Amino acid sequence: MKISGQIVLITGASSGIGAACASELRRNGASLVLTGRSPGRLAQVAKPGDLVLPGDLCDAPFREALVQQAILHFGRIDILLNNAGFGLYAPPTRSPLDEVRAMFELNLFAPLDLIQRTAPLMKARGSGIIVNISSVAGRLTLPWLSMYSASKFALCALSEGLRSELSGTGVHVITVCPGYVRTAFPGNVRGGTMPASLSNPSRFAITAEECASAIARGIEKRANTVVTPASARLLLLAARLFPWQTERFLARFHRQLEQQA
Ligand SMILES: NC(=O)c1ccc[n+]([C@@H]2O[C@H](COP(=O)([O-])OP(=O)(O)OC[C@H]3O[C@@H](n4cnc5c(N)ncnc54)[C@H](OP(=O)(O)O)[C@@H]3O)[C@@H](O)[C@H]2O)c1
Repeated sequence: MKISGQIVLITGASSGIGAACASELRRNGASLVLTGRSPGRLAQVAKPGDLVLPGDLCDAPFREALVQQAILHFGRIDILLNNAGFGLYAPPTRSPLDEVRAMFELNLFAPLDLIQRTAPLMKARGSGIIVNISSVAGRLTLPWLSMYSASKFALCALSEGLRSELSGTGVHVITVCPGYVRTAFPGNVRGGTMPASLSNPSRFAITAEECASAIARGIEKRANTVVTPASARLLLLAARLFPWQTERFLARFHRQLEQQA
């Protein structure tokens, strides 16, 4: 799909991958609806012509108003980019249930609600793209990020089920699984503080701009899945080829994190 002329709703547009997607898609000629909780940070990302609608995506009435106002302003939504999300750094036995529920509300139920509000309209027009930002953690359960992984596995399942439900309608669904991307994400995780070995993996990390450009290429090619960078593709391949070794490695990693906690 050509990005030029498309109306794109980006959640979590106030920082990191969402903000970089806003720049990349605008540069490619899209019109943007930007949302996030922080009006100040959204104002820094927005340019004239963008529609900025600040609010909390965990609030169902806000989600309804968001879609209504976007459609009132632009007449339609061509691309829904479900990007907003946060992580929870704690082992499953010590993950506070209220925090797990809040994370699932943002990482899974908010995207599902926005999909239910936009997909029927896309289907009626016979075109549209839904992009769900999952994670490598949505394909491989990471130690101390197991509940975050669970939310991202669920988002992958939602994406894949939705793609088959919508096949033949002209509406396409893309699952994005980034590896490490240098953003404010580690500082925003709840539960505990991620150690430097997890939060600052300089060798394998990419920038939010590199991630956004891979996402834009995925949209243009109507890819089913975007896994970026290449090291993340290799990690997933190794995990598939060597499941026992991977599990032993992750268990060792878990014990190291336990000692550091
Ligand atoms: N960074 C990585 O290494 C990495 C890797 C794989 C996947 N991801 C995924 O990529 C997505 C973007 O993460 P990021 O790295 O760009 O992190 P980030 O810089 O922390 O951005 C998170 C975004 O989500 C928004 N947000 C958080 N809570 C919200 C809420 N309740 N309502 C509305 N918006 C909310 C934040 O905006 P406000 O604070 O203004 O609300 C912010 O714009 C997430 O889904 C994350 O799981 C990240």
